[in-house]
Amino acid sequence: MEVVRKIDDLKALRPSWPRPVGLVPTMGYLHDGHLSLVRRARTENAAVVVSIFVNPTQFGPSEDLSSYPRNLDRDLEFLEREGADVVFVPPASEMYPGGYPTWVDVEGVTSLLEGASRPGHFRGVATVCNKLFNIVAAERAYFGQKDAQQVAVIAKMVHDLNMNLDIVVIPTVRETDGLAMSSRNAYLGSEERVAAGVLYRALTSARGMCREGCLDAALVRKRMADVIRTESLASLDYAAVVAPGSFEELESLDGQALAVIAVRIGATRLIDNMTLLD
Ligand code: PAJ
Repeated sequence: MEVVRKIDDLKALRPSWPRPVGLVPTMGYLHDGHLSLVRRARTENAAVVVSIFVNPTQFGPSEDLSSYPRNLDRDLEFLEREGADVVFVPPASEMYPGGYPTWVDVEGVTSLLEGASRPGHFRGVATVCNKLFNIVAAERAYFGQKDAQQVAVIAKMVHDLNMNLDIVVIPTVRETDGLAMSSRNAYLGSEERVAAGVLYRALTSARGMCREGCLDAALVRKRMADVIRTESLASLDYAAVVAPGSFEELESLDGQALAVIAVRIGATRLIDNMTLLD
């Protein structure tokens, strides 16, 4: 497994790779959710490239860029074990040299929900993913359903800018109580960690209602908010029922519908989602 820090060094390696190539973009502090993407990429590609880059442009000024958890040595051990071929770990100055002015803005979907709560977040995500796609030139890139709105933004960007790669979406990997694995779970104290199970309970309760025949999105949203309110350490940022491609809110559930929530547990903000009609 090769660890590469410079863009030119990575590009110089490209001709030696067997095709197809699968790219797994990450911000590191890897857990089983990330590793499920790497495993899937390993089964579908002749070469697997994983990037580890805590992308500063997707963090707001009052967000957790400086405290975001990092453990490169452990990440590299995991990736060696999973059979990754190349790990790309660029410094921020390599990706964004001084005065960096060029951005990718996907309109519409980025202004809603996560985009509304975190202004500029998806511009940073789309820009860094476009850069990684150009640097690695993979046939496929792997993303987690855990970040469903991120998937919608990336899919729209790839479609609208006619990019030459397929986006593969992998189901959310969960802890035994249903909490979606996330690098940010490391911020939770032990009581908060127990409380964090409320996100999954809210989503499964919403799905249960729909399976029993409720097609009224307002009632489903209210159920999620009610479940979150049962947990004193939790405060709701948003609970919504949306169309998975556009993230427009639905009134009635007749086609594909996705329940999405963002909840603060103490100082930690967690997001999760679940399909309602499948
Ligand atoms: P990060 O949060 O490190 O996640 C990297 C990838 O792992 C994303 O596609 C994410 O959806 C996926 N992932 C995270 N938790 C998961 C889980 N429990 N189950 C399945 N997949 C999971 O998302 C980012 O980084 C960044 O925004 C990035 C795309 C790398 C751009 O900087």
